[in-house]
Amino acid sequence: MAASRLQSSDIRAMKGAGSVVCLTAYDTPMAKRVDRHCDLVLVGDSLAMVVYGLETTRGVTLDIMIAHGQAVMRGTERACVVVDLPHGTYEDSPEHGVRSAKRVMEETGCQAVKLEGGEEMAETVRAIVDAGVPVLGHIGLLPQKAEHRGGFKIQGKDDAGAQQVYKDAAAIEAAGAFAIVIEGTVETVAREVTARSGVPMIGIGASPACDGQILVTQDMVGLFADFTPKFVKRYADAGKLIEDAVVAYAADVRDGSFPALEHCFGVPKSKD
Ligand code: KIV
Repeated sequence: MAASRLQSSDIRAMKGAGSVVCLTAYDTPMAKRVDRHCDLVLVGDSLAMVVYGLETTRGVTLDIMIAHGQAVMRGTERACVVVDLPHGTYEDSPEHGVRSAKRVMEETGCQAVKLEGGEEMAETVRAIVDAGVPVLGHIGLLPQKAEHRGGFKIQGKDDAGAQQVYKDAAAIEAAGAFAIVIEGTVETVAREVTARSGVPMIGIGASPACDGQILVTQDMVGLFADFTPKFVKRYADAGKLIEDAVVAYAADVRDGSFPALEHCFGVPKSKD
């Protein structure tokens, strides 16, 4: 029998009780591969870049996120599935965030939503949580806002920056987030936030001291090779594996060795 699915409250309870293992997935086959090994699977808006070939994470709509959320739900039965609220779907007002979050939950059946932002988004996080939707926070480097903050800049580099990260984490925790992703932040600052916080801090380009870690699966398995950020450890070269298969297939088609009769229908079986 399938194990029961982890909920946001189970992830919350993992603070100080071992590492929370998280990866992204955007489709059913990948979701099936990661589900048994991960506590949390994120349908991240990084799919804009690693699946749709866009230059930033800002090009995906709520409808696109919902379609991928449904695909990932079909491929998972154990992990807590979180779907990103994309750029432009929650920033106008807390009500805007609540509307989008409820749509994602109702149309995908996922366990929680994630949104980017610190102090300035605390009221929206509170409104979404009060509406009954669990929220995963996201502080530090915020890809959706990178354009307006001078690019993908590591956060917490000076005292003012570090203080802002501490304030952001405290505000999002107080607003009711069950856990918080901390991205692209100076290691000592991420370590200190993790020590101060009462909810799991999930690091990406942050610190081994975080309560859990997340990577974009495409980066981790070598499927997205346009660039590899410093914080990614590549565990496989799936891109090369696929290309090698394509090269072999193309050669077989060109020299006539594929398809063989065994791949065809209505061919009498040979006697030997
Ligand atoms: O969209 C995403 O994949 C993310 C992770 C980088 C945390 O937000």
